[in-house]
Order: sequence, then C-alpha cells, then structure tokens
Amino acid sequence: MKPNKKLHLNLIASLIITAFTFSACAGGSETVSQTNNDLGKQVFMQKCATCHSLEEDQTIVGPALPHIATIAETRLPDKSAQEYIEAMLVDPTTFDLEDYPNVMPQNMKGQITTEEYTALVDYLMTLK
Ligand code: HEC
Repeated sequence: MKPNKKLHLNLIASLIITAFTFSACAGGSETVSQTNNDLGKQVFMQKCATCHSLEEDQTIVGPALPHIATIAETRLPDKSAQEYIEAMLVDPTTFDLEDYPNVMPQNMKGQITTEEYTALVDYLMTLK
C-alpha cells in the first residue's frame, strides 16, 4: 500500500505543476502583447511624435495619426492598411499627401531594430 500511495501523491503533484505551467503560459502571452504595444508606443513617441500627433486634427509637421489604421486602408487600392504603413516607413514617397511637405525621412524602418519596427507597426494597426 505504501509505495502506491506515494505514486498517487506524485501524480497529483505533477498534475498541479502542469496546471500551473499552463496558467503561467496563458498569462504570459497577454503580457507579451501588452509589452509589444507599450514598446510600439514608446518607439512612436521617440521617432515619430516630433512630426505626428495622436490628437485629432493636430498638425505638427505631418498629419495626426489617431486613426491611421483606418485611413491607411483607403490610401492605395493595391495595398492593405498594414502594407501601406510598412511602405511609408521605407519610402514615404509611396503616397503624396497634398497638404503636407515631403519631409518625412526615408527609411524610418532602418533607424530602429526589427523588434521595435514590428511593435511599432502592430501599435499603429491598433489606431482605428
Ligand atoms: C520629419 C518629420 C516626420 C517624421 C520624423 C516622421 N514623419 Fe511620417 N510623415 C511626415 C510628413 C510630412 C508626411 C506627409 C508626407 C507627404 O505629404 O507625402 C508623413 C506621412 C506619414 C504617413 C502617411 C499618413 C497618411 O495619412 O497617409 C504615415 C503612416 C507616417 N508618416 C508614419 C510615420 C511614422 C510611424 C513615423 C515614425 C517612425 C514617422 N512617420 C516619422 C513627417 C514625418
């Protein structure tokens, strides 16, 4: 009887550990996406906010971008919102906004790490 009982306890212990591991993973992915969004906003504040406001209709140098994910969808018929944003971060002459000067720097993508770039694009895609 004794060894059997020990086996039983071991089984329960490993079940508990498994349950913990699962809940830790579930919580973990939420934290990762929140961290990604925070990083995206941080990159925006450092690299873009000098020219782009997030306030409605507030022009600094370029247009305000509080709804860029929605507007980006309408810019070019052959590009999705995300493709348009990505194209502008490499070559801003992709689309010429009439009321603004063509002063957005070329290849903003090249000024940040891949991780920062992905987080930035993901963040911009939340601005609907
Ligand atoms: C030196 C100022 C400047 C900086 C820095 C800058 N931009 Fe721009 N951006 C502009 C201007 C000016 C335009 C309009 C360009 C045009 O008329 O062709 C523009 C256009 C855009 C557009 C297109 C908006 C639309 O309504 O279609 C997006 C998207 C954009 N910028 C994103 C960014 C992001 C993201 C960053 C930071 C990584 C950034 N820009 C950095 C000046 C800037």
